[in-house]
Amino acid sequence: MHGSDEDLLMIPGPTFIPNSTLRVMSRQMISHRGKKFGEILTECTENLKKVFRTKNDLFILTSSGTGAMEAAISNIVEPGDKVLCTTFGKFSERFKLIVKAFGGVPIDLTFEWGDAPDPVLIEETLEKEENIKAITITHNETSTGVRIPLDEIGKIVKKHDTLLIADTISSMGGDYIPVDDWKIDICISGSQKCFSLPPGLAFISVSEKAWNVINRTKRRAFYFDLPAYLESYKKDPPELPYTPALTFFYALQNSLKLLLEEGLDSVVSRHEKLAQATREAIKALELELFPKREDICSVTVTAVQTPNGVSDKELRGSMQKDYGVLISGGQGKLKGKIFRIGHMGQATDKEILTTIYALEKSLKKLDHRIELGAGIEAAIKVFT
Ligand SMILES: Cc1ncc(COP(=O)(O)O)c(C=O)c1O
Repeated sequence: MHGSDEDLLMIPGPTFIPNSTLRVMSRQMISHRGKKFGEILTECTENLKKVFRTKNDLFILTSSGTGAMEAAISNIVEPGDKVLCTTFGKFSERFKLIVKAFGGVPIDLTFEWGDAPDPVLIEETLEKEENIKAITITHNETSTGVRIPLDEIGKIVKKHDTLLIADTISSMGGDYIPVDDWKIDICISGSQKCFSLPPGLAFISVSEKAWNVINRTKRRAFYFDLPAYLESYKKDPPELPYTPALTFFYALQNSLKLLLEEGLDSVVSRHEKLAQATREAIKALELELFPKREDICSVTVTAVQTPNGVSDKELRGSMQKDYGVLISGGQGKLKGKIFRIGHMGQATDKEILTTIYALEKSLKKLDHRIELGAGIEAAIKVFT
């Protein structure tokens, strides 16, 4: 799947881009106010709704994922508004920073990095604190490899007069996230992870419950003012308020075609299998998964504790230099303590086996005691 002169990208985004997507990106520019773009925009929006499993409005923003996080907050939060921010890693903390930047008051519900938010505590907080306008949650905390029980949290939020804002930047398009069934009012994703696209596009869906709040909020957004996106989309032909990254729309059109051709359920089971094979390999090598329990392990990124006596820098350095396999280290306070293997987008058993091979050989080179081949054998068992 990968070209031989490039590293095998096994980081949690950006991910490998298939050749057919690379090819469409060389297409000539068109008018972003014309019929042709209107058709591309409509097709991309409708196909994204299929991936999000939603009938809600959905908009495509020219920005990285953080832009969509900012869009959510700046359209909902007025100075003094309370937002329940669940934090359990680097990206969930980002929501809190954005809430603060827009004058909101974050109600902090912090969990240990490596753990997932406890739905019971969320419910207790929603019952205790009055006037919580929204709750922010990260479905797949890329920094810790944790995936949370978002369905359970959706059931709780539904009973309250508050909005559920979910970041699915590193899971949508790889994991099963039925936005409507799980009552996610604002759901956010980005292009460079499971969609196998370059960074530069973000996606945001908006429920009716969320529109009711947005329409009575004195919004502090301009570029990301969501009613402007709705108005532009209703035009004939549909368009966007500002000049979109046209090239990435060509790419998105192709990427969605690939996802739907493979079948959304098959895409999800492929990711589940990749994650399971990775975990089995890690356990067979007697390494420790970073998440506290296996039932909260992500299906798109596996976080592993760097074994005692092994330098994270040397381990990842050897994997890249000797085997051309690029994985990620820890972020923030986990720097040097964990490494992360991304298995999202176009990844298959071939890439996982190559990565495990590189990991085993590099651990051996660094004099860490492992049974060479144990990881590969465990992973193969999952694939066969
Ligand atoms: C869960 C999560 N949220 C937010 C972001 C930020 O997205 P971006 O870097 O596209 O702005 C990332 C990126 O890695 C992420 O994984």
